[in-house]
Amino acid sequence: MPKPKVFVTRRIPSAGLDKIRAACDAEVWPEPTPPPRAVLLDRAAEAEGIVSLLTDAMDVPLMEAAPHLRVISNFAVGFDNIDVPAATERGIAVGNTPEVLTDATADMAFCLLISAGRRLVEAAEYVKEGHWETWEPLGHIGADLMGKTLGIVGMGRIGSALAQRCRGGWGMNILYYDVASNPDAETSLGARKVDFDTLLTESDFISVHTVLNKETHGLFNAAAFRRMKPTAVFINTARGRIHVHGDLVAALRSGEIFAAGLDVTHPEPLPPEDPLLKLPNAIVAPHIASATRQSRDAMGEIAAANLLAGLQGEPLQAWLNPEVESTRRR
Ligand code: DGY
Repeated sequence: MPKPKVFVTRRIPSAGLDKIRAACDAEVWPEPTPPPRAVLLDRAAEAEGIVSLLTDAMDVPLMEAAPHLRVISNFAVGFDNIDVPAATERGIAVGNTPEVLTDATADMAFCLLISAGRRLVEAAEYVKEGHWETWEPLGHIGADLMGKTLGIVGMGRIGSALAQRCRGGWGMNILYYDVASNPDAETSLGARKVDFDTLLTESDFISVHTVLNKETHGLFNAAAFRRMKPTAVFINTARGRIHVHGDLVAALRSGEIFAAGLDVTHPEPLPPEDPLLKLPNAIVAPHIASATRQSRDAMGEIAAANLLAGLQGEPLQAWLNPEVESTRRR
């Protein structure tokens, strides 16, 4: 029996890749940058399974070019790169990698929160550039955390994990804005569900943990930044399109908000000449929140398990469209 043909759009940790290679006729895109669209479409024509990254658009034209495709396994928890309803219509199962990156991502959100609040990167550059002359009573003044208010947008797994850290470690008051209530967070963390405007006006720190969809696209725009405190710190580790890039630059530049810490931007990567990168009160990381050994290995294992289950017609370990079951391609 020939092994199923699969295309893996990047090298992923061997914890997952070795299993894929053992069970499949796998082609792995060898470059560190994404395969060009033409390559993706070409490989899709033969593929029974694809392991995709958040940089690979799994859209209708790709699915139309992929008559044998039975499973798309995304190496990410976010799946805004995949048209899931279109996959369901075509009988294609879709999986992602939730839970295993929750702590790593919450840790990165906190790392950005305290670093942006205390102006750590700016201060470290000041030292490296040779400006440190003396101890300065009025220099490098940053934000306090203890007892301040944290506003979470999207109180799911990652939002709750950040809230736990900030409540338990820094006694912060927790507000959240979400379409769904989170009774656990309300009981265990004293979190209060509020409308968006209340979150904007009352929070000292705002951290974004929601999915990117029509409702959240551009949610943080000029009007939203204008409603925030001038002392507020804005954190985004979810998706770059949730804030409007130019509006954030303007808000940071004019002092409408104090600082920002971003693990995600739009576009990614940001060109080196982007004005955001010239601002002392912005910290930008290259989308690394899940980049810990344990998280990335576990993401690889789940991505492999989802791919293999999809090829075998079995339930996926983390299945985004289980409703496809009755019409699945086999
Ligand atoms: C995800 O998983 O969606 C992150 O953005 C990358 O790990």
